[in-house]
Amino acid sequence: MKIVILGAPGAGKGTQAKRIAEKYAVAHISTGDILRENIKAQTPLGIQAKGFMDNGQLVPDDLVVALVADRVQREDCKNGFLLDGFPRTIAQAEALDKIMPPDAVLNIDVDTSLLLKRLTGRRVCAKCGAPYHIDTLNGATSCSLCDGELIHRADDTEETVGARLKVYEAQTKPLIEYYQAKGKINDVDGTLAIEEVFAACCKVLDGLQ
Ligand code: AP5
Ligand code: MG
Repeated sequence: MKIVILGAPGAGKGTQAKRIAEKYAVAHISTGDILRENIKAQTPLGIQAKGFMDNGQLVPDDLVVALVADRVQREDCKNGFLLDGFPRTIAQAEALDKIMPPDAVLNIDVDTSLLLKRLTGRRVCAKCGAPYHIDTLNGATSCSLCDGELIHRADDTEETVGARLKVYEAQTKPLIEYYQAKGKINDVDGTLAIEEVFAACCKVLDGLQ
């Protein structure tokens, strides 16, 4: 099962990807999480990526494609993988089609007006990356899964979120048409409750098996 999960910043890609990867026993590959780990560890990739990410811009295609090309060959991808946040440009989608074309694409659709609130109120686990929202945390400051500290992501400020949404519209949204032309798009209403969105994703994925 080779799946791509598409959606604007804050659409709920990470939230759904964690659940899907667990249920279907496939590897969850979030390019955003991998890049943030590289920034934390101050690797050459992290040092190159940081400026782009802090400004809400995309990291250059060649760097991200090389990262994914290596990642999908690993042992834990034998049963399949779920790409969260990749591809994000037509060039990345074309590169993926050469390496390992996806079987299906889930497009999590959420109106832009909801995204700003979701992102500025988001908290993420510093250890495992699990996303939360201040509206449902009831004051909790640690991750319910691994007890890691919950932090505010550096690019979740109002200003940077604005830049990320513009980048999505200009560079990533065209991927919907790209995959539509290949008959691979499955739209999912991302404005529903988390468990309802998950059920809709499972319905699509069950149809593939
Ligand atoms: P990345 O980490 O991928 O960020 P993003 O695409 O902007 O998406 P987010 O992680 O912000 O949102 P999400 O859709 O995962 O939402 P979540 O589930 O957390 O990328 C960051 C940066 O890295 C990029 O800007 C770029 O610089 C770089 N990068 C990464 N990949 C790249 C690539 N391929 N090429 C180039 N550069 C790349 O949910 C959001 C919030 O909403 C949470 O608070 C959550 O609790 C809440 N929520 C989720 N679902 C629901 C729901 N159904 N109802 C109510 N609330 C919900
Ligand atoms: Mg995410």
